[in-house]
Amino acid sequence: MSQKTWGGRFEGGTDAQVEKFTESITFDRRLFRHDIRASRAHAAMLAEVGLISAGEADSIRSALDEIGTEIEAGKMEFRTSLEDIHTHIESALIARLGDVGRKLHTARSRNDQIVTDVKLWVRDAIDDLDGLLVELQRAFVASAEREHGVVLPGYTHLQRAQPVLAAHYYLAYVEKLQRDRERLADCRKRVNILALGAAALAGSSLPIDRESVRQKLGFDSVARNSLDVSSDRDFLLEFVFVLSMIATHLSGWAEEWVIWSTTEFNFLDLPDGFCTGSSIMPHKKNPDVLELTRGKTGRVIGALQGLFVLVKGLPLAYNRDLQEDKQAVFDAFDTVGGCLAVAAPLVRQTKLRREVIASRLEDGFLDATTLMEGLISRGVPMRSAHEIVGKLVRLCEQKKCRLADLQDAEFDQPGVSGADIKKTLGVANSLAAFKSYGSTAPAEVAKQLNEWKNKLGM
Ligand code: ARG
Repeated sequence: MSQKTWGGRFEGGTDAQVEKFTESITFDRRLFRHDIRASRAHAAMLAEVGLISAGEADSIRSALDEIGTEIEAGKMEFRTSLEDIHTHIESALIARLGDVGRKLHTARSRNDQIVTDVKLWVRDAIDDLDGLLVELQRAFVASAEREHGVVLPGYTHLQRAQPVLAAHYYLAYVEKLQRDRERLADCRKRVNILALGAAALAGSSLPIDRESVRQKLGFDSVARNSLDVSSDRDFLLEFVFVLSMIATHLSGWAEEWVIWSTTEFNFLDLPDGFCTGSSIMPHKKNPDVLELTRGKTGRVIGALQGLFVLVKGLPLAYNRDLQEDKQAVFDAFDTVGGCLAVAAPLVRQTKLRREVIASRLEDGFLDATTLMEGLISRGVPMRSAHEIVGKLVRLCEQKKCRLADLQDAEFDQPGVSGADIKKTLGVANSLAAFKSYGSTAPAEVAKQLNEWKNKLGM
């Protein structure tokens, strides 16, 4: 009999080149644990409904466990003639059990099998990523706590804007990562729907119990439409979208710290362990980890685009094109996992150069907006206050001085004493003036820092 699970219909063998062209075992072997887990549940169900005997199910499950151990130990020989991980495991089962092994694929197709395996894998991947995201959140929160009192220049357009507390700055990234965690949790809901039992495309005439398989594999519900199942890769696109979002967040942060670590900014003391040198310039300490984090984001976004192009023109139901989804997904996951794993210790170990930051904090009119708000709260209409402060800044630029260096009289307005309004100037006063919810007001930031520490079990 043919080695191929589908060999019956064929007289001639497969062209050797075609075997190499169509195989997926070189990359889908990564799913072996999930394939075995799904097969164990399937076998148990087949016995429950009487399609195989309880004894047969027992032998299948223990043989599957042995096969798993063998693969784990690197003892299975992978062959392109056996195409994919499903066929490798099924063939190994048949080699052990003969006819009993030949019963496992009852009421099942590789089309619903692959979706099931991938869903089980993505579910684990999501849980792993959540752990990595929490670790990075904790690193940002620890930094927020360590650098709490430090005041940073806040930027828009990379131009000095208003002062912000360093803790406020770090917590901004904690928020972004929290949204990524929520997105993953939401994606997980659509991942966690059982595909198995859809069989090739139309379901089965055999009396299978999909609810029982659902329970065994810990899925939340059973997919309603068998035709939808084998073509559905929405959950993979969603997953890689979230990975792209995480990578994008990391990329923005990495870019910021690349800039902050320049001689021009000199805000950061990047740890030696996370930098590399130059083979020709002896003085160099390059932020390669940050640069690679920024660069790898391209790979992840590329994977998302590749997946969209892959599925965009596919008719129902299974098409072999779909085999091409896995490498993109695996690579995107590995890439983002790697970036997150290295980001957490880098964040923890990177200290702000407080003196450098403080020595330049009064430059760049960080207090101008608070001055404007001071005028507003003393009754000056917003647009007029904006114009008054704009003119004062222009005067400072002519005189090459700060707002606080101007004479009191320059600040006098009808009904407003210049000497009084000048009390709002300076970064410390400016920072202390903030009040609104979510602002950089020290009391607000302290509250949020505490909330995050509680939420993240710190
Ligand atoms: N290896 C295929 C994939 O990764 C699954 C098997 C379906 N193959 C088939 N000829 N129906 O999508």
